[in-house]
Amino acid sequence: MTVRVLTGITTTGTPHLGNYAGAIRPAIAASRAPGVESFFFLADYHALIKADDPRRVARSRLEIAATWLACGLDPEKVTFYRQSDIVEIPQLTWLLTCVAAKGLLNRAHAYKAAVDRNREAGEDPDFGVTAGLYMYPVLMAADILAFGAHKVPVGRDQIQHIEMARDIGQRFNHLYGDAWRAATGQAGEPLALPEAQIDESVATLPGLDGRKMSKSYDNTIPLFAAPAELKKLVMSIVTDSRAPGEAKDTEGSAVFQLYQAFATAHQAQEMRHAFAEGIGWGDAKQRLFARVDEAVAPMREQYAQLVARPARLEEILLEGARKAREVTVPLLDGLQRAAGLGAFAAPGATAGARPAVAAKLPQIKQYREADGRFHFKLVDAEGRVLLQGAGFDSPREAGQLIARLKREGADALHEMEQRAVGLAGERVGVLGEDAAGVAAIIDALRLMAEGQA
Ligand code: TRP
Repeated sequence: MTVRVLTGITTTGTPHLGNYAGAIRPAIAASRAPGVESFFFLADYHALIKADDPRRVARSRLEIAATWLACGLDPEKVTFYRQSDIVEIPQLTWLLTCVAAKGLLNRAHAYKAAVDRNREAGEDPDFGVTAGLYMYPVLMAADILAFGAHKVPVGRDQIQHIEMARDIGQRFNHLYGDAWRAATGQAGEPLALPEAQIDESVATLPGLDGRKMSKSYDNTIPLFAAPAELKKLVMSIVTDSRAPGEAKDTEGSAVFQLYQAFATAHQAQEMRHAFAEGIGWGDAKQRLFARVDEAVAPMREQYAQLVARPARLEEILLEGARKAREVTVPLLDGLQRAAGLGAFAAPGATAGARPAVAAKLPQIKQYREADGRFHFKLVDAEGRVLLQGAGFDSPREAGQLIARLKREGADALHEMEQRAVGLAGERVGVLGEDAAGVAAIIDALRLMAEGQA
């Protein structure tokens, strides 16, 4: 079985070297492994929770999309999309909202931290807290559960969110599992429960001041800074005050750690020697700049081209959304029906109704009746019903019969007619009065087969 791996990237800020080494590079490498099916998306609805400047949201989303592609994410191999293009995500968010315990959300770290800050400041506990912040874990659960993801690679700070997704998913399964199995004819559970995947080996890079590189410390080096800017930033990294000629520690040195993240093992070893031999900080930084620039240059070039052609990016992301929705549309259909929100009957299933657009070919249509059973009918190009299958317990049973009719045409029909007689019309019934004759049915099946060939 292929493992389905999914991760979201909140589209705030500009990607930096720490994001690259700690998240982008390992995620792209993992997406190339055999036996995995990867979903990567821009969590742009999540971005609205933290940022309210539309221009910045738009800019960051474009930059982050271009960054991942420039860094080698292959949209043919993975499914790469924008959260906001998948309407099933907010739909599922609501279904989950209605089963999520409020008490669970009260315990979310980000919300609790905001409340604690307010308490300390003597404010109302919910001062400045939006319902969006509060609901963050539910939206994230929908991101994950809408795709049946098994593994979710995230940083440690996100583990709680994955556990909440499991919790909420489990509750949905418990409440609606039976209804879902009845509605869809599928076995198992409606929602797959995900696991967090924490990569311990991944580097956290130090920033300019030696603390973890992070936007919140304002100590970052943008991944695609122009060479002059990159050089300036590298030269400003804090070091100890050892003079040239004095041996230097690699341990705890931001210059060394950054170098190592972009160097081969051999190059890192050489740098270790140079530190022991007392390389001057200026020289060490010069080497660091050269190494990073060399590693980044080809990607920077790609990035510039992508950002300059947003139409191409748009195309890639829309194609990604199309692929993504092949998963989410059928899933949500089943979940909505499980929750009692399905159609009363499929359009066209009611007496006298006509298809909105005249079909050019005969078609087999599947639908569900109020009795909860699964039906199908063969209609000709004008929408007249030629043949009707009566009441199956599951869409699978109906589907198998339809597949046979399509595959074997008249042969299957003859056999089924006999069975139908035997089963007193239980399985397939040729319509009585205004039904076209068997010849018309055979004709339609043939036309369909030819039309599809
Ligand atoms: N909350 C995640 C972060 O800040 C981003 C994210 C949103 C995400 N939806 C997700 C990650 C779904 C994994 C799966 O890093």
